[in-house]
Parts: sequence; structure tokens; C-alpha cells
Amino acid sequence: MKLAVLSRAPQSYSTQRLRAAAVQRGHQVKVLNTLRFAIDLTADEPDLHYRGRPLSDYDAVIPRIGNSITYFGTAVVRQFEQMDVYTPNTANGISSARDKLRANQILSKHNIAMPPTAFVRNRADVRPAIERVGGAPVVIKLLEGTQGIGVILAPQVKVAEAIIETLHSTKQNVLIQRFISESRGRDIRALVVGDRVVAAMRRVAHGDEFRSNVHRGGTVEAVTLDPVYEQTAVRAAQIMGLRVAGVDMLEGEDGPLVMEVNSSPGLQGIEAATGLDVAGAIIDYIAGQVAFPEIDVRQRLSVSTGYGVAELVMHAGAEQVGRQLGDLGLWDRDITVLTLHRGVTVIPNPRKHVILEPEDRLLCFGKLDEMRSMIPERRRRRAKVRRLPKEPLPDRSS
Ligand SMILES: Nc1ncnc2c1ncn2[C@@H]1O[C@H](COP(=O)(O)OP(=O)(O)O)[C@@H](O)[C@H]1O
Ligand SMILES: [Mg+2]
Repeated sequence: MKLAVLSRAPQSYSTQRLRAAAVQRGHQVKVLNTLRFAIDLTADEPDLHYRGRPLSDYDAVIPRIGNSITYFGTAVVRQFEQMDVYTPNTANGISSARDKLRANQILSKHNIAMPPTAFVRNRADVRPAIERVGGAPVVIKLLEGTQGIGVILAPQVKVAEAIIETLHSTKQNVLIQRFISESRGRDIRALVVGDRVVAAMRRVAHGDEFRSNVHRGGTVEAVTLDPVYEQTAVRAAQIMGLRVAGVDMLEGEDGPLVMEVNSSPGLQGIEAATGLDVAGAIIDYIAGQVAFPEIDVRQRLSVSTGYGVAELVMHAGAEQVGRQLGDLGLWDRDITVLTLHRGVTVIPNPRKHVILEPEDRLLCFGKLDEMRSMIPERRRRRAKVRRLPKEPLPDRSS
């Protein structure tokens, strides 16, 4: 295959290793400076220029987008996606992962355990938020920090309030997060490629530092992961739309707590700690996936008028629960079931003899009108408001 590594640091360890692993496997590979692309929207089809010249054909790209160029970098990746060039990490995935709040919002929807976190803006909401996540000591994080910069441990509520107020006054958004003291300055970095963890290490903070980042003096050691940690890391990466990711987890009392998912994980520390060929695993994975560029399913499936994608939830007590999928008459109504989500597992192309359980979720493609009638009423989280009277206000003009 012909592969491009999108990187502004051709000499960095990770870029060099990816290039070498690709060459070693007989692939053609180029390192292209992300900032030298021009996105061309004038032609009939999406296109790219590189250093002023039309870009030649590539089969796949590996985006290594630094924090300082997220906007332009993800625009370039998105353009490759529009050109049907395979990328293990989508533009969406990269931008969601980069924003700690956005990542938390997405992951929490999918039952990934994370340290209790809050996000507030008004001064009056700061103290209650600190109390809700568990009080002091409390961790304060800038939304887009890396390498441990912008992660602060505040020993008392008053100090935390002062720090947050100061940051707010300089227009910085911060997360308020419970300090997971039982992890004692250690965390786990799991390197996910596709649907498995290919390498993992534990990072241990230096001295009385609580941040275990290597840039903060942390040291690393190889670790054999408990399957729960592996599954959590793989699911977190997949939910974020990242097929190559470094998932950072704290070791909480009840298991893994995901802190962040990195879309351009460094390879030096993890290869050194484990002695494993992580770069090679990434190249092998991409070579196997090249034929399947990322497709925005909803976008593609919604182009026929009246058709679309919907999720049907089998709430407990619904008449469908306990019956076979094939007996619901979906196919007769021109509805195809793409996947069945059950708890944290996904059954692709579920068979018709599968018995439905409460809270099963069916991802379906079909006629929107047919599916609308099957979508149960939205579950209300709060007491209902009173309905408006059928008649408009009485006419008082006479
Ligand atoms: N809630 C927390 N409790 C305990 N330690 C934490 C917590 N959040 C972060 N840390 C420590 O601080 C480090 C940096 O935090 P992280 O959110 O990963 O920011 P960065 O993106 O700067 O690496 C983590 O690797 C971990 O060691
Ligand atoms: Mg980190």
C-alpha cells in the first residue's frame, strides 16, 4: 500500500518508527507535513494539494496531529476521508478526544467509568460542583492540556475556588474532577490498535508529584493488563472513533477509570517499556483495513428520501421483550436490523432467532415512517409539565 504519515515532526521517534515499520513490510511511505496541505474545494470531487502541487494517490494516512494544529489538522484528515482514503483515526474522533470535556460527555453515555467530573461556568456553581465530585482535595484541569500541564491538585475547597475563579477570569475553561487518591500517582497507558490492546504500561509519578506523565518525571514499566482494563480501553477507543489510541486509566477501587483517550499516542515510552513492536502492529492493522475506508453510515444511508437510521429501544415491559427478533415483522415493513446492542456488547447482523431482552437496542435502517411508530415515547427525566389547553385563550374582545 501507499501510506502517508501526517506529521510535522519527521525526525521524531514515533514518525521514524512508523516509517521504518512500513518500509520493512514492503509498503511505500511518505511523511507529509500537515501544515503544507491545501484543501481544494473548487473541483468536482474533494481533492488536496501538497506543497502547491496536486497530491498523488494514497491508500491510507496515519494522522499524527499535534495539539497546536487541531483545527487545520483535522480539516486535512476530514478531506482524506471525503476522498475515501483510509484513516484509522477520523477527524471527528481526533477532535472529540482532544477536548477533555467532549470526550467525557461521549464516554459517559456509553457506561465507561470515569472519575466523577463537573463543568461549570458561574461562580455560584463552583462550590456545589466541587462538593458533588467529592470535595477537596480536588483536581482541576484545563480542557486542552497535555503532558500534565494544566492539571492541578487543590488541597482545599477555598484554594480550588480561587484557582477556578482565576482561570475563569482569563477565559479558560476547566474541569473539576474527583482526586482518585487510591491510584497513588500511578496510571495505566494502554495502546489500542483496532480491537485489541497491543501494549500496556504503568506510569509512576516522580516523588510527591501526583501526575505520572513522563514529561513530569514519571517512570514507566511494562504491565500485564487485567481483561477488564483491556476491554475498557478498547471500548473507549472505539466509542471515540479511534482505531489507534493511547487510553489512560486510573486504577480506581472498583476498577479502571478512564481519564483520557489520546489520538496520537507517543510510541517511544511504550516500546521502550514493553520491548514490543507497536509501530509494526499499527502498520499491519492499517494494511488489513485499507479496503474499508471509514464511511459515515448515517450520511450515506439517509440519502434516499424517507429512509434513515434509528435506534429502537426494547424498554422493560415492552411487548417485544421475550420474543424472537424475526417475529417482530421488521423485515416485512422494509426495516433492516444492523446491530443489536445489549449492555456493553454489540451483536452485528443479529439472527432472527435471537430472543429480545429488556433494554436491548436495535440499530435499524428503513422507512422513517414505519420506524417512527415503533419508537417508544421518550422517557421523561422530570415530572411532566401541564399540557396546554386544547382551545386557545378565551376570546375577550367582545
Ligand atoms: N482525577 C485524578 N486523580 C488522580 N490523578 C489524576 C487525576 N487526573 C489526572 N491525574 C494524574 O495527572 C496526570 C495528567 O492528567 P491528564 O488528564 O492525563 O492530563 P494530560 O492530558 O495533561 O496528560 C495523569 O496521568 C494522572 O497521573
Ligand atoms: Mg494524560
